[in-house]
Amino acid sequence: MSANNTQGLAGVVAGSTHICTVGKAGTGLTYFGYGINDLCDHCTFDEVSYLLLHGELPNENQLKDWIQKLAASRGLPEALKSTLAAIPADAHPMDVLRTGCSMLGCLEPEGADRDGHAVGLRLLAAFPGMLCYWYHSSRGREIDLDTGETSLAAHFLHLLKQKAPDPLEVKVIDTSLILYAEHEFNASTFTARVVTSTLSDVYSAIAAAIGALRGPLHGGANEAAMELIEKFSSPDSAEAGIMELLSSKALIMGFGHRVYTESDPRSEVIQALSKKLAEKCGDTVIYPVSERIHAVMKREKNLFPNADFYSASAYHFCGIPTPMFTPIFVLSRVTGWLAHIYEQRANNRLIRPTADYIGPDTRKVTPLSNRPL
Ligand code: COA
Repeated sequence: MSANNTQGLAGVVAGSTHICTVGKAGTGLTYFGYGINDLCDHCTFDEVSYLLLHGELPNENQLKDWIQKLAASRGLPEALKSTLAAIPADAHPMDVLRTGCSMLGCLEPEGADRDGHAVGLRLLAAFPGMLCYWYHSSRGREIDLDTGETSLAAHFLHLLKQKAPDPLEVKVIDTSLILYAEHEFNASTFTARVVTSTLSDVYSAIAAAIGALRGPLHGGANEAAMELIEKFSSPDSAEAGIMELLSSKALIMGFGHRVYTESDPRSEVIQALSKKLAEKCGDTVIYPVSERIHAVMKREKNLFPNADFYSASAYHFCGIPTPMFTPIFVLSRVTGWLAHIYEQRANNRLIRPTADYIGPDTRKVTPLSNRPL
């Protein structure tokens, strides 16, 4: 039995979108027409989240209003707090976010009182609190969800570390949230669109998207990349280790991409920030090891790092536990998922492709008693 040439839907155009372009001219990434470098240079993630959910960048008053609305939506209902506190400390935080999203959907369902846009704003505002409330409460610590921080990046870092965050770390997380916010018809976004196309609710689409993002071929690659980098104590041992892995045909997480052909434009931005943090921390292992893995992958496979590779070391230098890496992706990508959910709803048709059948020919059922033992 052989698969057809659309395996993994590679190269298949599965719909149209106003939101994002990926890999046009080999390397580009745009959100509603704005280039990713332009957005990183001139905007905060809170401006970009507004852009993705409204189609335009905010003016000063609109941004102020947006930030106020988000800050007012950060609290968690007691029943959700109890659910989060009951999840074991060694659970994967992606499972925590998936569960938190579902539970909030039970407590504050989409319907007459709350439309899809209100649910979207609520999830964007509440995800950092869900993640950090579980993180601390499952370790016996009660935390206040009201940090007084205005930006989502600073709010998250403050919740996680329980102190006012370092400005460079806020800048790094804010930029990485911009980089991760949207990426056209990637696996998790397409999942969200498929769920939405059945006329299901926003919570279901986002919970399904979190499940898709969790895998190491998608968002989970940043955690897998960190686990790999940490195995090596020097650039030379990293080179030997990568050569061995490549000779056994292993995948090196954080490299390669389905759509980009020459480079991932997000990688250069996060690499520069990782380098800055490495210098600040006095790191002499993690960043040099990362650079050597990068060089070996280029030399041996002509493969480039994707957004996940240098995000790993950048998050590590910010003191973020490795299992929190993919959840940070959720805090950001929820904006892209929501943009696609709203776009799908605006012009919906059930997404239901067909398959090339490559199974057995039609046959008759043999009654159970006549089947060979
Ligand atoms: N490490 C080693 N080899 C890799 C590789 C990697 N990270 N990524 C691709 N390759 C190789 C494949 O083994 C394949 O080799 P072959 O032709 O000898 O079989 C070739 O490059 C083409 O790869 P393919 O698996 O067809 O690409 P894809 O478009 O299906 O997959 C990814 C794209 C992203 C899933 C893939 O590059 C990958 O698994 N990367 C690691 C996980 C990752 O970083 N994911 C985050 C993506 S943003």
